Amino acid sequence: MDVKEAIEKRRAYRSLEPVEITGEIVMELVEAARLAPSCFNNQPWKFVFVRSKEALEKMKEALNKGNEWARAASCIIAVFAKKEYDCVIKEREYYLLGTGLGLGQMLLRATELGLVAHPIAGYSPEKTAEILGIPEGFNIITLVIVGKKSPKDNNGLLNEKQEEGEKQRPERMARENIYSVDRYDDRLDTKAEH
Ligand SMILES: Cc1cc2nc3c(=O)[nH]c(=O)nc-3n(C[C@H](O)[C@H](O)[C@H](O)COP(=O)(O)O)c2cc1C
Repeated sequence: MDVKEAIEKRRAYRSLEPVEITGEIVMELVEAARLAPSCFNNQPWKFVFVRSKEALEKMKEALNKGNEWARAASCIIAVFAKKEYDCVIKEREYYLLGTGLGLGQMLLRATELGLVAHPIAGYSPEKTAEILGIPEGFNIITLVIVGKKSPKDNNGLLNEKQEEGEKQRPERMARENIYSVDRYDDRLDTKAEH
């Protein structure tokens, strides 16, 4: 699979079925993030791969309502970083960008490996830190829900709207609202509508 195909295939699917997340898969995902660019090569990204049955069971306590579908995860990746571990140039703090670049590569590699890797913001960072023993000072930026796409659009854990979402990718903004050439365009001052 080339990069373009992985970009097109990647979806934040929610209807998941179990898949074994082997040590090799974990290594492949780590390696994809490890090679990402970062400010001054600071590599701010940190990951905890949760994949034992017991640990996954505990992580369910950290999920917000609305993310019940994530209970079918075969692996949950906690993604975290510290501001101080990356460039801070006046008001520009690069650790979120850096971690996002690493994670972006990881998501594409997961797609190439036939996995769903779906980042979520709907979780409790406090509970996550407590369950996983992540010390204070780290910002838990996202959890990534990993599994295999179920052939059914609803494995039983999705609400109606989420089931509908499995069928097609949510609409993207018009291109002119996200880029211009040579000079800023007022059309770039646009927020996505839902
Ligand atoms: C930072 C971030 C937070 C997200 N949080 C959630 C979430 O809490 N629950 C959920 O079901 N999807 C979540 N998503 C998935 C987005 O809704 C999804 O990526 C978006 O609708 C585009 O769909 P696509 O990824 O399939 O193209 C999140 C995605 C990102 C990047």
